[in-house]
Amino acid sequence: MSTENLTHLAVIMDGNGRWAKKRNLPRTAGHLAGLKALKKIILASKKSDVKFLSLYAFSTENWRRPDSEVNYLMNLIASKLPSEIKFYKSEQIRILVRGDRTNLPKAAINAINKVEDETKEFSAITVILCINYGGHDEIVRSVNSILKENPTTEITEDLIKSHMQFNDIVPCVDMIVRSAGEKRLSNFLLWESAYAELGFYDTLFPDWDEQMINIVIKDYQSRIRKFGGIS
Ligand code: FPP
Repeated sequence: MSTENLTHLAVIMDGNGRWAKKRNLPRTAGHLAGLKALKKIILASKKSDVKFLSLYAFSTENWRRPDSEVNYLMNLIASKLPSEIKFYKSEQIRILVRGDRTNLPKAAINAINKVEDETKEFSAITVILCINYGGHDEIVRSVNSILKENPTTEITEDLIKSHMQFNDIVPCVDMIVRSAGEKRLSNFLLWESAYAELGFYDTLFPDWDEQMINIVIKDYQSRIRKFGGIS
């Protein structure tokens, strides 16, 4: 039994499309339902004292989806982030957006900058939305920023870690979970997953709620973490 709190939980939100298909709805309806579930799991995580919640919203590979779906997701980011600021403030939620934002549509970049700025003093829970995020890309960007500072330096693990986005704010992930039955990481938090606990659940993401978060936390507490040592 782990006596440690689950401080940083990360969720690969999968199954929005399947949820919509089951109901004869367009895939976009699945993303909208996923957004509703996302709000529920933020509140449930906060209630359970999870301090950092990372959510995989758009990967560096998701650009391969049809333009209409990519545009829908980008518009969702650009419109919903600012319109939810009142909710974040009332719940003392800090929002950070992890990933390479430079290639996003201007409206999405503006929305991200605004929500990060307007929630920066809150700490009841920090929600890290991973947008245009890829684990490989994150490591490459970190190494490039080290080399920019000092082109002749020897690369070390500590240097890579210290040049990653939000390294000074967000602690290492404790558990990575995925919905909808798939059992892979899909380029999510590759550096950080070295000693993270993993959990895979069949429930499609739009059906996630407080009960699912309670299941995840119970699962985490049943694990024995050894970090390469002995228990
Ligand atoms: C994966 O399900 C889901 C995504 C790629 C998008 C997740 C995005 C949201 C929940 C909304 C985020 C919005 C904001 C404002 C942060 P899938 O489409 O791959 O599902 P499938 O495997 O069943 O097709």
